[in-house]
Amino acid sequence: MIAHHQTGRSAGNPTWTHLGRCLVVLLLLCACDWIEAKPHTIGFSQSDTSESDWRRANTKSFRDAAKVLGIDLVFKDAGGKTEMQRRQVQELIDQKVDAIVLSANEISGWDSVLLNAKKAKIPVILSDRTIALRPENQGKSLFVTWIGSDFRYEGRVAAAWLAQETAGRCNIVEIQGPTGAAPSIDRGQGFRDVIDLFPGMKVIASQRGNWRTDQAKDLMKVLLRNEGANICAVFAHNDNMAIGAVQAIEDSKHLGLKPGKDILIIGVDGVKRGFEHLVDKRINALVECNPLLGRIVLKVATEVLGGRSFPPVMFMEDRVFTVHNALSALPSRKY
Ligand code: AHR
Repeated sequence: MIAHHQTGRSAGNPTWTHLGRCLVVLLLLCACDWIEAKPHTIGFSQSDTSESDWRRANTKSFRDAAKVLGIDLVFKDAGGKTEMQRRQVQELIDQKVDAIVLSANEISGWDSVLLNAKKAKIPVILSDRTIALRPENQGKSLFVTWIGSDFRYEGRVAAAWLAQETAGRCNIVEIQGPTGAAPSIDRGQGFRDVIDLFPGMKVIASQRGNWRTDQAKDLMKVLLRNEGANICAVFAHNDNMAIGAVQAIEDSKHLGLKPGKDILIIGVDGVKRGFEHLVDKRINALVECNPLLGRIVLKVATEVLGGRSFPPVMFMEDRVFTVHNALSALPSRKY
Protein backbone atom coordinates (compact mmCIF):
# COMPACT_ATOMS: atom_id res chain seq x y z
CA MET A 1 0.00 0.00 0.00
CA ILE A 2 1.46 3.36 -0.91
CA ALA A 3 1.78 5.49 2.14
CA HIS A 4 0.47 8.86 1.29
CA HIS A 5 2.66 10.65 3.70
CA GLN A 6 6.36 10.75 2.86
CA THR A 7 7.02 11.45 6.49
CA GLY A 8 7.65 7.82 7.16
CA ARG A 9 4.33 7.32 8.82
CA SER A 10 2.23 4.43 7.79
CA ALA A 11 -1.24 4.98 6.50
CA GLY A 12 -2.61 2.79 9.29
CA ASN A 13 -2.37 5.03 12.26
CA PRO A 14 -2.47 8.77 11.66
CA THR A 15 -1.27 11.24 14.39
CA TRP A 16 -3.57 13.71 16.16
CA THR A 17 -2.20 16.69 14.18
CA HIS A 18 -3.02 14.72 11.03
CA LEU A 19 -6.52 14.05 12.42
CA GLY A 20 -6.71 17.70 13.39
CA ARG A 21 -5.89 18.79 9.85
CA CYS A 22 -8.48 16.37 8.42
CA LEU A 23 -11.04 17.81 10.79
CA VAL A 24 -10.19 21.38 9.71
CA VAL A 25 -10.46 20.38 6.02
CA LEU A 26 -13.75 18.61 6.76
CA LEU A 27 -15.10 21.64 8.59
CA LEU A 28 -14.01 23.91 5.74
CA LEU A 29 -15.73 21.64 3.25
CA CYS A 30 -18.90 21.67 5.32
CA ALA A 31 -18.67 25.44 5.67
CA CYS A 32 -18.37 25.73 1.87
CA ASP A 33 -21.38 23.50 1.53
CA TRP A 34 -23.31 25.60 4.02
CA ILE A 35 -22.28 28.76 2.10
CA GLU A 36 -23.14 27.16 -1.25
CA ALA A 37 -26.46 25.83 -0.04
CA LYS A 38 -27.81 29.20 1.22
CA PRO A 39 -31.21 29.35 -0.51
CA HIS A 40 -31.90 32.31 -2.75
CA THR A 41 -34.57 34.66 -1.43
CA ILE A 42 -36.71 35.66 -4.40
CA GLY A 43 -39.59 38.12 -4.18
CA PHE A 44 -42.65 37.33 -6.33
CA SER A 45 -45.04 40.23 -6.92
CA GLN A 46 -48.31 38.75 -8.23
CA SER A 47 -51.10 40.87 -9.77
CA ASP A 48 -54.18 39.20 -8.28
CA THR A 49 -54.45 35.47 -7.54
CA SER A 50 -58.25 35.71 -7.12
CA GLU A 51 -58.87 37.11 -10.64
CA SER A 52 -59.05 33.83 -12.59
CA ASP A 53 -58.44 30.06 -12.78
CA TRP A 54 -55.36 30.95 -14.82
CA ARG A 55 -53.91 33.16 -12.11
CA ARG A 56 -54.52 30.56 -9.42
CA ALA A 57 -52.65 27.96 -11.51
CA ASN A 58 -49.87 30.51 -12.08
CA THR A 59 -49.43 31.28 -8.38
CA LYS A 60 -49.45 27.56 -7.53
CA SER A 61 -46.75 26.90 -10.16
CA PHE A 62 -44.46 29.40 -8.38
CA ARG A 63 -45.09 28.02 -4.91
CA ASP A 64 -44.54 24.43 -6.11
CA ALA A 65 -41.39 25.32 -8.07
CA ALA A 66 -39.89 27.25 -5.14
CA LYS A 67 -40.24 24.15 -2.96
CA VAL A 68 -38.61 21.90 -5.56
CA LEU A 69 -35.79 24.38 -6.28
CA GLY A 70 -35.17 25.15 -2.59
CA ILE A 71 -35.92 28.84 -3.08
CA ASP A 72 -37.17 31.05 -0.25
CA LEU A 73 -40.12 32.67 -2.07
CA VAL A 74 -41.39 35.96 -0.63
CA PHE A 75 -44.88 36.11 -2.11
CA LYS A 76 -46.82 39.38 -2.40
CA ASP A 77 -50.32 39.55 -3.90
CA ALA A 78 -51.62 42.94 -4.98
CA GLY A 79 -55.27 41.88 -5.17
CA GLY A 80 -55.62 43.72 -8.47
CA LYS A 81 -54.49 47.08 -6.98
CA THR A 82 -51.60 48.49 -9.03
CA GLU A 83 -50.57 51.22 -6.56
CA MET A 84 -50.40 48.59 -3.81
CA GLN A 85 -48.33 46.35 -6.11
CA ARG A 86 -45.75 49.12 -6.64
CA ARG A 87 -45.50 49.56 -2.86
CA GLN A 88 -45.05 45.80 -2.45
CA VAL A 89 -42.18 45.74 -4.96
CA GLN A 90 -40.53 48.59 -3.02
CA GLU A 91 -40.94 46.53 0.17
CA LEU A 92 -39.13 43.63 -1.53
CA ILE A 93 -36.29 46.01 -2.47
CA ASP A 94 -36.11 47.32 1.12
CA GLN A 95 -36.07 43.70 2.29
CA LYS A 96 -32.95 43.18 0.10
CA VAL A 97 -34.25 40.04 -1.62
CA ASP A 98 -31.78 38.48 -4.08
CA ALA A 99 -34.08 38.89 -7.10
CA ILE A 100 -37.63 40.03 -7.94
CA VAL A 101 -40.20 38.43 -10.24
CA LEU A 102 -42.93 40.83 -11.32
CA SER A 103 -46.31 39.97 -12.91
CA ALA A 104 -47.58 43.49 -13.39
CA ASN A 105 -51.28 44.21 -12.87
CA GLU A 106 -51.01 47.16 -15.31
CA ILE A 107 -48.35 48.03 -17.92
CA SER A 108 -47.42 51.55 -16.88
CA GLY A 109 -45.92 53.37 -13.88
CA TRP A 110 -43.05 50.96 -13.10
CA ASP A 111 -40.12 53.26 -13.94
CA SER A 112 -39.29 54.66 -10.50
CA VAL A 113 -39.57 51.41 -8.52
CA LEU A 114 -37.54 49.49 -11.13
CA LEU A 115 -34.91 52.27 -11.06
CA ASN A 116 -34.74 51.68 -7.29
CA ALA A 117 -34.28 47.94 -7.85
CA LYS A 118 -31.46 48.66 -10.29
CA LYS A 119 -29.78 51.01 -7.79
CA ALA A 120 -30.05 48.23 -5.19
CA LYS A 121 -28.50 45.79 -7.72
CA ILE A 122 -31.56 43.49 -7.47
CA PRO A 123 -32.30 41.82 -10.83
CA VAL A 124 -35.93 41.94 -11.96
CA ILE A 125 -37.56 39.29 -14.16
CA LEU A 126 -40.92 40.02 -15.74
CA SER A 127 -43.30 37.05 -15.71
CA ASP A 128 -46.35 36.83 -18.00
CA ARG A 129 -47.26 40.52 -18.06
CA THR A 130 -45.26 43.02 -20.13
CA ILE A 131 -44.74 46.61 -18.97
CA ALA A 132 -44.26 49.91 -20.82
CA LEU A 133 -41.32 51.99 -19.56
CA ARG A 134 -40.95 55.69 -20.33
CA PRO A 135 -38.78 56.26 -23.44
CA GLU A 136 -35.88 57.68 -21.40
CA ASN A 137 -35.72 54.46 -19.36
CA GLN A 138 -36.10 51.91 -22.13
CA GLY A 139 -32.34 51.44 -22.74
CA LYS A 140 -31.47 51.10 -19.03
CA SER A 141 -32.16 47.32 -18.71
CA LEU A 142 -34.48 47.87 -15.78
CA PHE A 143 -35.42 44.21 -16.12
CA VAL A 144 -33.29 41.23 -17.15
CA THR A 145 -35.87 39.38 -19.29
CA TRP A 146 -39.61 38.89 -19.84
CA ILE A 147 -41.03 35.33 -20.01
CA GLY A 148 -44.60 34.71 -21.09
CA SER A 149 -47.13 34.28 -23.89
CA ASP A 150 -47.55 36.52 -26.93
CA PHE A 151 -50.89 38.16 -26.12
CA ARG A 152 -51.16 39.94 -29.47
CA TYR A 153 -50.60 36.65 -31.31
CA GLU A 154 -53.37 35.12 -29.17
CA GLY A 155 -55.79 37.83 -30.31
CA ARG A 156 -54.82 37.31 -33.95
CA VAL A 157 -55.25 33.53 -33.75
CA ALA A 158 -58.69 33.90 -32.16
CA ALA A 159 -59.78 36.27 -34.96
CA ALA A 160 -58.30 34.02 -37.67
CA TRP A 161 -60.22 31.02 -36.30
CA LEU A 162 -63.46 33.06 -36.24
CA ALA A 163 -62.93 34.45 -39.76
CA GLN A 164 -62.50 30.94 -41.13
CA GLU A 165 -65.43 29.58 -39.11
CA THR A 166 -67.83 32.32 -40.30
CA ALA A 167 -66.44 32.88 -43.79
CA GLY A 168 -65.57 36.40 -42.68
CA ARG A 169 -69.12 37.51 -41.81
CA CYS A 170 -69.88 37.96 -38.07
CA ASN A 171 -71.22 40.45 -35.49
CA ILE A 172 -68.95 40.07 -32.48
CA VAL A 173 -69.30 40.87 -28.79
CA GLU A 174 -65.88 41.36 -27.14
CA ILE A 175 -65.47 40.85 -23.40
CA GLN A 176 -62.22 42.49 -22.34
CA GLY A 177 -59.98 42.22 -19.31
CA PRO A 178 -59.33 45.24 -17.08
CA THR A 179 -58.06 48.62 -18.35
CA GLY A 180 -54.28 48.91 -18.53
CA ALA A 181 -53.55 45.17 -18.28
CA ALA A 182 -51.15 43.97 -20.99
CA PRO A 183 -53.30 41.00 -22.14
CA SER A 184 -56.40 43.19 -22.49
CA ILE A 185 -54.51 45.72 -24.61
CA ASP A 186 -52.60 43.24 -26.77
CA ARG A 187 -55.34 40.60 -27.27
CA GLY A 188 -57.75 43.37 -28.29
CA GLN A 189 -55.22 44.83 -30.69
CA GLY A 190 -54.26 41.41 -32.11
CA PHE A 191 -57.93 40.54 -32.65
CA ARG A 192 -58.49 43.77 -34.60
CA ASP A 193 -55.28 43.24 -36.61
CA VAL A 194 -57.14 40.36 -38.28
CA ILE A 195 -60.85 41.20 -38.25
CA ASP A 196 -60.11 44.61 -39.77
CA LEU A 197 -59.13 42.64 -42.87
CA PHE A 198 -62.71 41.35 -43.18
CA PRO A 199 -65.37 44.02 -43.96
CA GLY A 200 -68.08 41.52 -42.90
CA MET A 201 -66.69 41.16 -39.39
CA LYS A 202 -67.64 43.84 -36.80
CA VAL A 203 -67.21 44.25 -33.04
CA ILE A 204 -70.76 45.44 -32.20
CA ALA A 205 -70.07 45.71 -28.45
CA SER A 206 -66.92 45.68 -26.30
CA GLN A 207 -67.12 45.72 -22.50
CA ARG A 208 -64.86 44.87 -19.54
CA GLY A 209 -65.47 41.72 -17.52
CA ASN A 210 -62.22 42.09 -15.51
CA TRP A 211 -61.30 38.41 -15.97
CA ARG A 212 -64.34 37.31 -13.88
CA THR A 213 -67.18 34.92 -14.77
CA ASP A 214 -69.85 36.77 -12.78
CA GLN A 215 -69.07 40.19 -14.29
CA ALA A 216 -69.00 38.72 -17.81
CA LYS A 217 -72.34 36.97 -17.21
CA ASP A 218 -74.02 40.18 -16.05
CA LEU A 219 -72.82 42.31 -18.96
CA MET A 220 -73.65 39.55 -21.46
CA LYS A 221 -77.24 39.36 -20.17
CA VAL A 222 -77.68 43.05 -20.95
CA LEU A 223 -76.13 42.66 -24.41
CA LEU A 224 -78.42 39.69 -25.14
CA ARG A 225 -81.43 41.85 -24.24
CA ASN A 226 -80.20 44.57 -26.61
CA GLU A 227 -78.76 42.50 -29.46
CA GLY A 228 -80.12 38.94 -29.00
CA ALA A 229 -79.80 36.81 -32.19
CA ASN A 230 -77.92 39.63 -33.93
CA ILE A 231 -74.86 38.37 -32.02
CA CYS A 232 -72.85 35.83 -34.07
CA ALA A 233 -69.91 35.32 -31.68
CA VAL A 234 -68.34 36.25 -28.34
CA PHE A 235 -64.57 36.84 -28.10
CA ALA A 236 -63.70 36.69 -24.40
CA HIS A 237 -60.18 37.70 -23.31
CA ASN A 238 -60.07 34.72 -20.92
CA ASP A 239 -61.87 31.43 -20.24
CA ASN A 240 -63.57 32.58 -17.02
CA MET A 241 -65.36 35.35 -18.95
CA ALA A 242 -66.19 32.99 -21.85
CA ILE A 243 -67.90 30.72 -19.29
CA GLY A 244 -69.82 33.76 -17.99
CA ALA A 245 -71.10 34.43 -21.53
CA VAL A 246 -72.20 30.78 -21.85
CA GLN A 247 -74.11 31.01 -18.55
CA ALA A 248 -75.85 34.24 -19.64
CA ILE A 249 -76.96 32.69 -22.94
CA GLU A 250 -78.23 29.56 -21.16
CA ASP A 251 -80.07 31.69 -18.60
CA SER A 252 -81.76 33.71 -21.38
CA LYS A 253 -84.07 30.80 -22.25
CA HIS A 254 -86.70 33.12 -23.83
CA LEU A 255 -84.22 33.79 -26.66
CA GLY A 256 -83.82 30.07 -27.40
CA LEU A 257 -80.15 30.54 -28.31
CA LYS A 258 -77.52 27.85 -27.74
CA PRO A 259 -73.93 28.79 -26.77
CA GLY A 260 -71.43 27.16 -29.15
CA LYS A 261 -74.18 26.69 -31.78
CA ASP A 262 -76.25 29.85 -32.33
CA ILE A 263 -73.57 32.06 -30.76
CA LEU A 264 -69.92 31.01 -31.21
CA ILE A 265 -67.71 31.36 -28.13
CA ILE A 266 -63.92 31.86 -28.18
CA GLY A 267 -61.81 32.13 -25.03
CA VAL A 268 -58.11 32.52 -24.16
CA ASP A 269 -56.22 30.51 -21.49
CA GLY A 270 -57.13 26.83 -21.95
CA VAL A 271 -57.80 26.13 -18.28
CA LYS A 272 -59.61 22.95 -17.14
CA ARG A 273 -63.08 24.51 -16.85
CA GLY A 274 -62.63 26.05 -20.29
CA PHE A 275 -61.74 22.62 -21.64
CA GLU A 276 -64.80 21.02 -20.08
CA HIS A 277 -66.99 23.59 -21.89
CA LEU A 278 -65.08 22.89 -25.11
CA VAL A 279 -65.69 19.12 -24.81
CA ASP A 280 -69.40 19.93 -24.22
CA LYS A 281 -69.33 22.11 -27.36
CA ARG A 282 -70.63 25.08 -25.33
CA ILE A 283 -67.36 26.83 -26.19
CA ASN A 284 -65.98 26.48 -29.74
CA ALA A 285 -62.29 27.41 -29.48
CA LEU A 286 -59.67 28.18 -26.83
CA VAL A 287 -56.34 29.88 -27.47
CA GLU A 288 -53.92 28.49 -24.88
CA CYS A 289 -51.95 30.80 -22.58
CA ASN A 290 -49.77 28.56 -20.41
CA PRO A 291 -49.83 29.66 -16.72
CA LEU A 292 -47.17 27.16 -15.54
CA LEU A 293 -44.35 29.73 -15.49
CA GLY A 294 -43.07 29.08 -11.95
CA ARG A 295 -40.32 26.59 -12.70
CA ILE A 296 -38.84 28.25 -15.78
CA VAL A 297 -38.96 31.77 -14.29
CA LEU A 298 -37.42 30.75 -10.95
CA LYS A 299 -34.74 28.68 -12.69
CA VAL A 300 -33.90 31.69 -14.87
CA ALA A 301 -33.79 33.90 -11.76
CA THR A 302 -31.38 31.46 -10.10
CA GLU A 303 -29.17 31.39 -13.20
CA VAL A 304 -29.20 35.20 -13.38
CA LEU A 305 -27.98 35.27 -9.78
CA GLY A 306 -25.26 32.87 -10.93
CA GLY A 307 -24.14 35.44 -13.51
CA ARG A 308 -25.82 34.03 -16.62
CA SER A 309 -27.46 36.38 -19.14
CA PHE A 310 -30.68 35.76 -21.09
CA PRO A 311 -32.40 37.19 -24.18
CA PRO A 312 -34.76 40.09 -23.27
CA VAL A 313 -37.85 38.18 -24.45
CA MET A 314 -38.69 34.47 -24.05
CA PHE A 315 -42.01 33.17 -25.33
CA MET A 316 -43.91 30.20 -23.94
CA GLU A 317 -45.31 27.76 -26.50
CA ASP A 318 -49.12 28.01 -26.84
CA ARG A 319 -51.63 26.04 -28.99
CA VAL A 320 -55.20 26.42 -30.22
CA PHE A 321 -57.85 23.93 -29.11
CA THR A 322 -61.21 23.39 -30.76
CA VAL A 323 -64.07 20.91 -30.34
CA HIS A 324 -62.06 18.65 -32.69
CA ASN A 325 -58.92 18.18 -30.56
CA ALA A 326 -60.17 18.97 -27.03
CA LEU A 327 -61.15 15.44 -25.96
CA SER A 328 -57.79 13.95 -26.94
CA ALA A 329 -55.92 16.76 -25.21
CA LEU A 330 -58.01 16.80 -22.00
CA PRO A 331 -56.22 13.93 -20.15
CA SER A 332 -52.82 15.65 -20.46
CA ARG A 333 -53.98 19.03 -19.20
CA LYS A 334 -52.10 20.08 -16.06
CA TYR A 335 -54.19 23.14 -15.18
O1 AHR B 1 -51.91 37.51 -17.95
C1 AHR B 1 -52.66 36.43 -18.31
C2 AHR B 1 -54.11 36.66 -18.01
O2 AHR B 1 -54.29 36.98 -16.65
C3 AHR B 1 -54.99 35.46 -18.26
O3 AHR B 1 -55.36 35.30 -19.58
C4 AHR B 1 -56.14 35.76 -17.37
O4 AHR B 1 -56.98 34.70 -17.16
C5 AHR B 1 -55.33 36.14 -16.16
O5 AHR B 1 -56.02 36.54 -15.14
